Amino acid sequence: MKKIRNSGRLALALGLAISTAHAAQGDAKAGAEAAGLCLACHQADGSGMNIPGGESWPRLAGLDEQYLYKQLLDVKSGTRESATMLPFVNMLSDQQLRDVSAYYSQMPATPAKGGEDASEARLAHGQKLAEQGDWDRYIVPCQSCHGPDNQGVGASFPGIAGQHANYIEDQLRNWQKGTRDNDPQHLMAAIAERLNDEDIQAVSAWLSRQPAQ
Ligand code: HEC
Ligand code: HEC
Repeated sequence: MKKIRNSGRLALALGLAISTAHAAQGDAKAGAEAAGLCLACHQADGSGMNIPGGESWPRLAGLDEQYLYKQLLDVKSGTRESATMLPFVNMLSDQQLRDVSAYYSQMPATPAKGGEDASEARLAHGQKLAEQGDWDRYIVPCQSCHGPDNQGVGASFPGIAGQHANYIEDQLRNWQKGTRDNDPQHLMAAIAERLNDEDIQAVSAWLSRQPAQ
């Protein structure tokens, strides 16, 4: 009797372990349904929209699943302030946040907009910041963290090539203002605060014209 009860407990423990492991994963199919709330802004193909002078909607398609999930948690907790996103994040359960993250991460990346009108000189300055940095001003090249061709590295360093220019600009300014304060060890804040207005416009324009792979 004792033995049976013990094995019953073991099965229960195993069952819990399995369901916990399952919960840690997003289910892209379920995410497609929850994403009905998101498509007005992020679009059915996850491409988002570049909105000059307004609040741009980032491309989500092809970004890392765990990066996306972390952003949703950060919006919820307020370390990334977004009055626009907060109500939507609050409508979804934790599992649904994981599911939508899986859903968007599996979509093919789409091209970005915003850098089309930038001058050659501005683009060249942006490329220099992204690839070589500016050591005189302690600006580390973007790709030293964001990876080769700024395509992103794992969950911590998002791909920024092929993201909308106005969205990139907004985020760099949000770090300067401190309304986005969710980066581990302030890695990104330390860079953003060294960028001047021309740097921000140049690097955002150049990155938006690079393909996301
Ligand atoms: C009304 C427009 C709107 C809707 C609807 C919306 N979003 Fe957003 N989303 C935004 C904006 C604007 C931002 C940028 C916020 C900021 O400035 O930090 C954003 C940012 C994000 C980010 C961060 C992306 C990144 O690259 O860091 C994720 C993830 C995201 N949204 C997911 C969702 C999901 C999932 C839904 C649906 C449940 C949703 N959004 C609904 C406008 C919207
Ligand atoms: C020292 C490392 C480091 C360097 C160098 C760096 N970044 Fe970042 N960056 C990060 C980290 C970490 C994050 C993710 C923060 C988070 O968890 O939200 C990030 C996020 C971003 C985001 C937000 C992307 C999104 O989808 O919301 C943008 C935009 C960005 N970085 C632009 C740049 C640019 C432009 C440069 C070069 C001028 C740069 N970064 C250099 C570490 C770095």
